[in-house]
Amino acid sequence: MAHDLNINPNLNREEKYPLILQQAEALVKDEPNLIANMANIAALIKESLQFHWVGFYIVEGDELVLGPFQGPVACTRIKIPKGVCGACVERKEAVLVPDVDKFDGHIACSSLSRSELVLPKIVDGTVKFILDIDSSELDDFSQLDIDYFNSILKSL
Ligand code: SME
Repeated sequence: MAHDLNINPNLNREEKYPLILQQAEALVKDEPNLIANMANIAALIKESLQFHWVGFYIVEGDELVLGPFQGPVACTRIKIPKGVCGACVERKEAVLVPDVDKFDGHIACSSLSRSELVLPKIVDGTVKFILDIDSSELDDFSQLDIDYFNSILKSL
């Protein structure tokens, strides 16, 4: 089924989120393939909110392996608990980094990233994959972003 991105670019982030969540749920509703759904969710977030990089890393043993993403090419594998992504898996909770230069061990896939938010998808107590969002703006994330991205992750 075809879907068009239907979110007015003039709305602010808070106004966009309920529409993005609605669209995310519609995109994945009839599709059981996780990779296909991750790909569309990454595109939806990147296109509607204009972040520098949006994508998924999938847990494979003691590593994270790059999954579907939108943005510049990125590190393929990250050893847990390295980087913000590895810390998210270890802590089993969202990690919000207002200034990546102040996060000890941050992995700079792109020099343009200034702040970062990483959220885990937990199934039966185990982190299966993470959603990573990089912004080229300092201090670009808040609890609002955590809440909506967690809701989007629930649909996957
Ligand atoms: N900055 C991340 C690495 C992944 S990229 O941002 C796409 C980290 O420190 O884990």
